[in-house]
Amino acid sequence: MAVQLGDVVPDFTQDSTEGPIHFYDWAGSSWVVLFSHPKDFTPVCTTELGAVAKLKPEFDKRGVKVIGLSVDPADSHAGWAKDIEETQGAKLNFPLIADHDRKVADLYGMIHPNASDTLTVRSVFVIDPAKKLRLTITYPASTGRNFDELLRTIDSLQLTDRFKVATPVNWKHGEDVIIVPSVTNAQAKALFPSGWKEIKPYLRTVKQPGA
Ligand code: BEZ
Repeated sequence: MAVQLGDVVPDFTQDSTEGPIHFYDWAGSSWVVLFSHPKDFTPVCTTELGAVAKLKPEFDKRGVKVIGLSVDPADSHAGWAKDIEETQGAKLNFPLIADHDRKVADLYGMIHPNASDTLTVRSVFVIDPAKKLRLTITYPASTGRNFDELLRTIDSLQLTDRFKVATPVNWKHGEDVIIVPSVTNAQAKALFPSGWKEIKPYLRTVKQPGA
């Protein structure tokens, strides 16, 4: 059974480009993005890993550690890392799990047999400091992911953990948000003293708190 939202994610120990990773110890009290790659020396993955390396300061700013995974051994990853630096102009600055025996891929349900029984799909798992799975996306091998979108979703998760709000379609950090339906207008007065806009009784927008 695949890991589902709200589940505590499984711990594991596996080799990586930075030596053996004991996942829970490595994650500590940070948020984590764990993302899988179908195979080493593949073109789309090469561009993705370069993009994530360039975005690392944005993940750091949000208290998020990133870790990739590909079902090949560490010596293969080391050779691929050189290509990533050469072609993408960015050095791999986070660990890449060497999941040669597919231990982690199987634990997290990253292999979808009807897509391929050997390659992982492009899975992303966003894990919170309590080790709970908070968001997952799955793309096929042929479609590279949008990591700016991933940062946007992390902004939403972290904001909605702090305040009784939800984020509307295409929301970006700094834009108005929605007061969650469970908050009554009487409670909203205390929570959002500067007021809100009531478009419908169930659709109330407010300036992003804490912005
Ligand atoms: C890629 O990363 O480029 C890729 C991997 C497997 C199938 C197709 C593309």
